[in-house]
Amino acid sequence: MGYPARMQQDRHIVNLALIGFMGTGKTSVGRLVAEQLHFEFLDTDELIQSRTGRTIADIFALDGEPAFRALEQQVVLELAGHKRTLVSTGGGLPTNSTNLAALKKHALVICLWASAEKVWERISHQAHRPLLNDPDPRKKIQELLAVREPFYKQADVLVNTDLRTMREVAQQVAHQYRFALSGH
Ligand code: S3P
Repeated sequence: MGYPARMQQDRHIVNLALIGFMGTGKTSVGRLVAEQLHFEFLDTDELIQSRTGRTIADIFALDGEPAFRALEQQVVLELAGHKRTLVSTGGGLPTNSTNLAALKKHALVICLWASAEKVWERISHQAHRPLLNDPDPRKKIQELLAVREPFYKQADVLVNTDLRTMREVAQQVAHQYRFALSGH
C-alpha cells in the first residue's frame, strides 16, 4: 500500500489515527505508540464518555445508535488543530465518510485489521459493547466486519494484527508513521 499522505497536498500530517474493528487493539496499541512517539493519547469513546458523563452502553440504550454517531462525529471534527496526538477511534467511526475525511486532513490513518475469528477470540469474554449484545454475537462480528471492510481499507496503511502481539503491532505502527513522514 502506498502513502497518499505525502502525495495529497490538502493533507498536513501531524497526528496519527488508529481505526479498525472492535477487538483489534486500537486502545492498547495506541497507548504504546503514543508513549514511543511522545504523543498525547486520545480515545474517541473516552472523550464521549467524559463529555456526557455516561457510558457508551448507556448512550446506545437510552438515546440510540444515531445519537452516539452524532457525538462521535462532533468529537472527530474537534480534533483538527491538535498536534502530536494519537487518536484511537471507535470501531464504527470510519463508516461515516465525513469522519474519515476529517481525520485524513491532519492524521496518518492506520487500520488495525483482524479476522472475525481473532476478534471473537479477543472479545468474547467482554460484555460492554452494545453492538455485540446479540443472540449470536459471533455471526454479528462476521456480518459487521464484512460491511465495514471497504471503509477500513480506505486507511493509509493496514496492519494485520492476527499473528502479532500488541507490542509488535505498536512497533509496526510507529515504524509506518515515521516512514510515511520521512519522505521515502
Ligand atoms: C463500536 C465500537 C466501540 C464503541 C461502540 C461502537 C462499533 O469501540 O465505539 O460500542 O460500532 O464498532 P471499540 O472499537 O473501541 O470497541
